[in-house]
Amino acid sequence: MPKTVLITGASTGIGYATAKLFQRQGWNVAATMRSPAGSDLAALDRVICPPLDVTSQASIAGAIATTLSHFGQIDVLVNNAGYGLIGPFEACTPEQIQQQFAVNVFGLMDMTRAVLPHFRERRSGVIVNVASIAGQMALPIYSLYHASKWAVEGFSDSLRYELEPFNIRVKIIEPGPIKTDFFSRSLVVAKQEGLTAYDPFVASVLPQLENVGDTASPPEVTAQVIYTAATDGSSRLRYPAGGNASFLLTLRKLLPDGLFTWFIKAGMIKEVK
Ligand SMILES: NC(=O)c1ccc[n+]([C@@H]2O[C@H](COP(=O)([O-])OP(=O)(O)OC[C@H]3O[C@@H](n4cnc5c(N)ncnc54)[C@H](OP(=O)(O)O)[C@@H]3O)[C@@H](O)[C@H]2O)c1
Repeated sequence: MPKTVLITGASTGIGYATAKLFQRQGWNVAATMRSPAGSDLAALDRVICPPLDVTSQASIAGAIATTLSHFGQIDVLVNNAGYGLIGPFEACTPEQIQQQFAVNVFGLMDMTRAVLPHFRERRSGVIVNVASIAGQMALPIYSLYHASKWAVEGFSDSLRYELEPFNIRVKIIEPGPIKTDFFSRSLVVAKQEGLTAYDPFVASVLPQLENVGDTASPPEVTAQVIYTAATDGSSRLRYPAGGNASFLLTLRKLLPDGLFTWFIKAGMIKEVK
């Protein structure tokens, strides 16, 4: 019997590429997304597209129930849904901050909580959390996104110990820059009316941040790493995944803080007036 993967945020980008890859490998795929109408994934064999907004408990319960009634079991959960909030911290509203954590952190936790009884009962399961190199190294004006991905790192790193006795593995995927809608329609740019003090700094950083997206890897690279993490049977925790992630994370580990800060400033901040 084919194994089953449930993926959040499968409408575009990494989630979409991951759904296609698991399907090609013969898996049953619950490619969940907020608005499934019109998704070409639903036409593929062994793929269903239950509606799922990770910020709604009812939606989470509904998508898991639909998946279990279609495929009978879930073997792998890929917590992929997420987006970036960008801008100076002071310009972000409390609602924008709440929403960043509601999707990237609490949504991921709620999905995990919802599948755990099933995984424990079967004494088997893999939880693949899509974090980012942004969970280990920081760029300017991404403070809330970094905070959310740092939270995913810490949560996953601890959770694996209590789940190991139930034969449930936790994996952290750490993509570098990947060419998806992350840098366009999904990006939320915080701007507060009348708050102009940060404008020169933001203007000095934005062009470099935009270039990061231009030179990114395709999402299929990350999908392949997610597939490996889900199926390698190992207890390995972290998987760098495209966009020079391995190089950048090694640099972050090896360089002392002062030198790494110099490296980020030299590459990212131009002509602060
Ligand atoms: N692209 C990169 O450079 C990069 C690097 C490191 C990590 N990541 C991480 O990779 C993951 C996927 O991002 P991506 O690059 O593939 O960007 P993307 O193409 O914009 O995909 C983001 C996905 O998240 C979904 N989503 C947003 N809010 C949601 C919610 N409340 N409930 C359910 N789904 C929701 C979006 O759904 P809608 O279509 O409904 O908006 C979309 O399917 C994110 O966690 C991101 O932080 C990306």
